[in-house]
Parts: sequence; structure tokens; C-alpha cells
Amino acid sequence: MCDGSSDRPFFPHRHLLGIEGLSPDEITVLLDRSENYVEQNRRIDKKKSLLRGRTIINLFFEHSTRTRTSFELAGKRLGGDVINMSLSTSSIKKGETLIDTAMTLNAMHPDVLVVRHQSSGAVKLLSEKVNCAVINAGDGSHEHPTQALLDALTIRRRRGTLQGLQVAICGDITHSRVARSNIHLLLAMGARVRLIAPATLIPPGIEHLGAEVFHEMAAGLKNCDIVMMLRLQQERMHGGFFPSIREYFTHFGLDYPKLANAKSDALIMHPGPMNRGVEIDAEVADDFGRSVIREQVEMGVAVRMACLEILTENLDRPELRTN
Ligand code: NCD
Repeated sequence: MCDGSSDRPFFPHRHLLGIEGLSPDEITVLLDRSENYVEQNRRIDKKKSLLRGRTIINLFFEHSTRTRTSFELAGKRLGGDVINMSLSTSSIKKGETLIDTAMTLNAMHPDVLVVRHQSSGAVKLLSEKVNCAVINAGDGSHEHPTQALLDALTIRRRRGTLQGLQVAICGDITHSRVARSNIHLLLAMGARVRLIAPATLIPPGIEHLGAEVFHEMAAGLKNCDIVMMLRLQQERMHGGFFPSIREYFTHFGLDYPKLANAKSDALIMHPGPMNRGVEIDAEVADDFGRSVIREQVEMGVAVRMACLEILTENLDRPELRTN
């Protein structure tokens, strides 16, 4: 899709709330723009002035290492002013609601709000109340669009394309916003998706999205090109979803014997934070011939720079769709 005034492809949305509903062309615009930043981030001089005068507020109601830091670096490398607000230091602790906090911040004229919240749908609700662009940095178990984009960029750089690849997403699918965003993105881009987990960690009906469901690692990993492991989101679990950590690892933890079912050059991915010995064996995680976990983190900064750049450009287009 191109902008009326130039041939430069553009992204016709005011916010980035999720991957669901984005077209392959729109996803490609975001990935192509991210690609431009990978080399820049490897140089000594990483700074640009594209976001000079722009204000980005990181508003995180849940803990984060990678996502919050990389949004901060992304904003700073583009020359913007970045402010970090976290649950522990804000008036949320004094009982202020999400919307009151958002309205307060909105009154200070930020250009982009990057929001992480424990409730699915909270970031969309907030986006309806503010004048700036909003990026969803993870809402409950719903979506985490920039994680899926950085995963896609990592795969595309290694394999050249997403089309036709067989990707296995393994672990706690039920509580994972990373899984949901990845399913939408990978299927939209022509990859095939398998979900591997115990029945208690697969949400009913998820196969209607177009993914295949497996309850056994050996069968699910057979001939896969990509093995994406997920953390057990114990903070979102109420009740017993599996008998014990040891049993979970025996059946669903990625170790070399299970990995042997995938293609011999299959890439190993994990969005982090990793729980070694729970969903992934430490040796497999550190197998840098095949594990691209560090590269995922690197790509995260490039993807977030592209998203910030594109959404701030779009602030000058009042006609844009707000979904
Ligand atoms: C993920 C998240 O917060 O959804 N982490 C991340 O952003 N890299 C996955 C997780 O917490 O397990």
C-alpha cells in the first residue's frame, strides 16, 4: 500500500494494538522498515533525529525487562524524549484508574503511549480516550504485536521468507499473548503453525484460527523449521494446569532428544524471560549454532524503532483508521 503523495509504502493505522486484522502487506511494511535499523544499531553512532521534539511515554502496569528497555532505547536512538512510568512509582498505587492515568498523561501532549497491562483489551480501551498513537506492549493474554514482529524479522533474516515454513509454538498457549500474536502473523504470512501443549494449556477452539494442535512433542515437532518455546505464565494461572514442573519438563521441556524430531537445522526461539529446566533445557537454550534467542532481543530494538517512526509519521494523517 502506498501513500498518495509518494511511492513509499505506508501503514494505514493510527495505533498498533494487535496483529489480528493486519494484511500481509501491512506486516511487510513494518518488517521492511525494521530491517533498515538493524545495521544502524550495530554502528557506534546509533543516533538519529527523526523523533526530535516527540515525546514517548512507556506506561507499564506489568513487569518487563526486554520490552520496556527496547522501547526506551528505540525512542532515544531516534532522538525522541522518552519517559518511563511503572506501576510501582505511579499514582496507580494510590487507586487512580487506568483511564484517569491515561487522561492525565494525555493532557501533557505525548506523541506515543507504549502500554502494557494485565487485562486483555485494556490497551484498546485506553487508545479510545487519548489523542496520541498507542502501541500495545502486551495486554493480558491477548496480543503482543511487537514481539511477533521481532520474531518474524528474526526468522525472515535467517530463512529469507516466512512463506511455507513449519513453525511449532510450544508450551503455555492459553495464557500467552506472544502465541496469539505469532499465530496471526505467521498464518497471515503463509507459514504453517503447530501448537504443542498439554490439553489444559491449549484454549478451546484455537484450531479455528488455522493452527494444528498437538499434545505430544515428538509428533508436533516432526520436520519443523522453527521451534518457539513459551514460558509457563504461572502469574496468570489459577488452579493446577500440570502435575509438577518436573513432569512438565519431562513431557514438554525442549531438550536434545525431543529437538531431534525437528529438522536438523531448525531454529530455536524463546521470547524470554526463560525458565531453564522448566520449558527449555539450559544447553539447548545456549546452543548458539541453533538458538536465536539473543538475536530476537536485538531485532526487538529495530522493530520498535520502525513502529515508533511509522506511527509518529501517521500522526499527521487524521483520516487514518483507529483500529
Ligand atoms: C513475554 C510477555 O511479556 O508477554 N515477554 C516478552 O515480552 N518478551 C513473554 C513472557 O512473559 O513469558
